[in-house]
Amino acid sequence: MGVSIDNLDEGKLEELQGKVIGDVSGAMGLLLSYIGDRLDLYSALAEVSPATSDVLAANTGLPERYVREWLSANAAGGYVEYDPATTQFSMTPEQAVIFAAEGHPHCMQGFFQAVMSAYIDEPKATDAFRSGAGLPWADHSPCLFCGTERFFRPMYAASLVDSWLPALDGVREKLERGARVADIGCGHGSSSIIMAQAFPNSTFHGFDFHEPSIDHARERARAAGVARNTIFEVVTAKEYPGKNYDLITIFDALHDMGDPVGAAAHALDSLAPDGTFMVVEPAAGDSLEENSHPLGQIYYAFSTLVCVPASKAQEVGLALGAQAGEKRLTEVLKEGGFTQVRRATETPTNMVLEARA
Ligand SMILES: C[S@@+](CC[C@H](N)C(=O)[O-])C[C@H]1O[C@@H](n2cnc3c(N)ncnc32)[C@H](O)[C@@H]1O
Repeated sequence: MGVSIDNLDEGKLEELQGKVIGDVSGAMGLLLSYIGDRLDLYSALAEVSPATSDVLAANTGLPERYVREWLSANAAGGYVEYDPATTQFSMTPEQAVIFAAEGHPHCMQGFFQAVMSAYIDEPKATDAFRSGAGLPWADHSPCLFCGTERFFRPMYAASLVDSWLPALDGVREKLERGARVADIGCGHGSSSIIMAQAFPNSTFHGFDFHEPSIDHARERARAAGVARNTIFEVVTAKEYPGKNYDLITIFDALHDMGDPVGAAAHALDSLAPDGTFMVVEPAAGDSLEENSHPLGQIYYAFSTLVCVPASKAQEVGLALGAQAGEKRLTEVLKEGGFTQVRRATETPTNMVLEARA
């Protein structure tokens, strides 16, 4: 069959061109945002706003010509405001939240950092794609690990204690009384630390096979004052020690694992008989049709570049992908031996599954 390009529909061509130009504008905007974050330009502008490029350059110690061009690109993209009468640049409260409010659930800088890591690691991802081999999580540029934490932590801070844990059957009460919890694929430990702060009577064991992430998690726990009730260890999802955990959690990591069925089976074996396995995964419908929207495109893209290669680098290499959906995830959990699986709650970006023996 093939496609002939002889008879083009000009209207459709223009529409697609417009969309792609919007995407390229976003790609360039993201790159400049990342640079602005690294050079503290947004936080400086938020502080002195409104300001001319001369004032922002003086305040940041950066060359005015570069600052002016960067501000112009941001103004053209609608990321900052420009007043031609005064030649001053400023930020609205909403722009300040998205670009400068570190730790706010709507701040996008961690997300930008994670996307930038995918750009930086493109040669490795292309090689893995060509050969079909895996690309281990540990082989990515460090800004993936920092960006992941920076992006996810505020979302966990906003939802985990107040909405996700209360949606699980009887778990919050156990945590308040004092429970044993294992957090698998904990990365930099933000989920373990947030829970440890909220439930001082409980003990949180964070496990991840990426040593630099575990080192980071230990430091973070010390800084957050929860070293007493957190323990971090370098170990895989199928080998972590301990039995009779009341709760085992896994945040945005099951689909990255080579053998998620084996990870689920080990969780079942490590839980107390009435324990709960909480699986947080990216929000997704069960089919490509349901996931054909901008967030789905972002998740599938990350999945092509990071998640599928990370899984394929491990034993089994099931490569669930970041848009596996509830139906497929439930099959995986049931293959691992769980008999009851339900969607306990969700946010626009995540679904929370509760699995029990
Ligand atoms: C996307 S990150 C999520 C990190 C953390 N849970 C969070 O939400 O910030 C996925 C994590 O899973 C870990 N991981 C992947 N496969 C693993 C395995 N088989 N055993 C242990 N950890 C694993 C990676 O090292 C990485 O830290």
